[in-house]
Amino acid sequence: MPNPRGPSPARAALSGTASFSPAPSIHANDETHPILHAGRVAVVTGAAAGIGAAAARAFAELGMKVALADVPAREPQLAALGKELEGIAGEGNILVVPTDVTDLKQVQSFRDKVYETWHEVGVLLNNAGIGSFDARRGTSWENLDAWHGILNVNLFGVINVQQTFVPSMLHQENPAMVINTGSKQGITNPPGHAAYNASKAAVKSLTESLAHELRTNHPSVTAHLFVPGWTHTGIGGAKPGQEKPAGAWTSEETVRPSLPPSFHHPSLPLT
Ligand SMILES: NC(=O)c1ccc[n+]([C@@H]2O[C@H](COP(=O)([O-])OP(=O)(O)OC[C@H]3O[C@@H](n4cnc5c(N)ncnc54)[C@H](O)[C@@H]3O)[C@@H](O)[C@H]2O)c1
Repeated sequence: MPNPRGPSPARAALSGTASFSPAPSIHANDETHPILHAGRVAVVTGAAAGIGAAAARAFAELGMKVALADVPAREPQLAALGKELEGIAGEGNILVVPTDVTDLKQVQSFRDKVYETWHEVGVLLNNAGIGSFDARRGTSWENLDAWHGILNVNLFGVINVQQTFVPSMLHQENPAMVINTGSKQGITNPPGHAAYNASKAAVKSLTESLAHELRTNHPSVTAHLFVPGWTHTGIGGAKPGQEKPAGAWTSEETVRPSLPPSFHHPSLPLT
């Protein structure tokens, strides 16, 4: 099938719209996944805060081009992160596109912007999510609105992004990967968070299906489930400046050991 978007650049150098090409501050080596290299493109949803922001920072430190999406209401935080990451990856290597993943049209427009700008996606981190803290907490027989709200973001948001980006990624010449953010709760099913647990169990199932389909039909694209444990972020009610409980990880501790060894920050414990 002809590629409607043209070939993707093979590990494209930081050039084009970039005003400078900084050396990556995390160095890729032989153990680094071939996709996680300077010049490749990383797309991150739910990037304005927490785990998504930490992952975006790590990708920028590798010299990757990074496209950041989060709900339009978080545009100020997203723009501030974009500025910060431009200081790491270079101006022209960061794209800020406020996008609500529950709105298919916004997701399609986000994809179009990424492909028009960089013509490829190396890593798709499908990460946006909401928790079942406070009002969204409840049993399986009450709070139907909360069920709709949680599944709409955590499951249909992930599906919208997958359905929109993956068909374009299949036509690239370079290998690419989809990483869906699940949760330990989608596996261990702790009581009190029925809707959240169900949404994350569904993301696990969805990702396993995608991985199998890709392995069979398009092996140059792979799918992976990212399974964070308890991380000190807004999703669990963490407030800015609030001290991290001893049992929780920081977003950086969650993200970096999940990536290849070259991502490990020397000062972070690998627990
Ligand atoms: N923090 C934890 O303990 C933990 C554990 C396991 C899994 N996770 C998962 O990690 C992912 C990131 O969460 P986090 O802990 O960084 O929380 P967070 O609240 O700091 O970040 C989530 C981000 O997703 C964004 N978002 C929410 N709805 C969106 C939508 N409709 N469209 C676009 N963006 C949207 C939020 O605005 C926020 O910036 C989530 O999928 C979450 O379920 C978190």
